[in-house]
Amino acid sequence: MNFTEITKLRQSCRSFNAARSVEREKLDMILEAARLSPSACNGQPYHITVCEGEAALKVAKACQGMGMNRFASDAPVMLVISEEAYVKTAAFGSKVKGNDYRSIDIGILSAYITAEACEVGLSTCILGWFDDKTVREICSLSAPVRLVITLGYAKEDDKLREKKRKDMKELVSYIKNQEQ
Ligand SMILES: Cc1cc2nc3c(=O)[nH]c(=O)nc-3n(C[C@H](O)[C@H](O)[C@H](O)COP(=O)(O)O)c2cc1C
Repeated sequence: MNFTEITKLRQSCRSFNAARSVEREKLDMILEAARLSPSACNGQPYHITVCEGEAALKVAKACQGMGMNRFASDAPVMLVISEEAYVKTAAFGSKVKGNDYRSIDIGILSAYITAEACEVGLSTCILGWFDDKTVREICSLSAPVRLVITLGYAKEDDKLREKKRKDMKELVSYIKNQEQ
């Protein structure tokens, strides 16, 4: 699958096959893609905690406040993305430029994870709705959790949905200076 195909095929999965586990080899490929993700000053200011079995179920429950994300209980793997400290140069740049590079880095990391998962035939859903305190306790983390990603096989009847996105005119503008 090439990248263009991945952009068309990847979608948030909300219908996981709870009976099908994730092969270690595929999980390793996804984590290797995550490891190669770019970040400000190459600082990689994040940590990934792989939760499986009972831990995955506990994390899923912590993503279900107010009736949200019920499907998460069927995902055999939950990837918990938490913050780590900036490296000095990125901390300096972030302060001087007033830019939250760490959130950007975690976003890119998540894009790599979800794209590689798609490449190996697995499905994902990025979750921003979770109870930080509970997930931290489950994973013994002292730093804030920023995202949780469900990982597993989609059910056979989970169809590819039509993508709903801004149209190109709204999304993109071009500026070209007049020739003098
Ligand atoms: C930062 C972030 C947080 C999200 N949180 C949730 C969530 O808690 N529950 C959920 O079902 N989907 C969540 N999503 C998935 C988005 O709803 C989804 O990516 C978007 O609607 C586009 O659909 P697609 O991923 O199927 O292309 C989240 C996505 C992102 C990037």
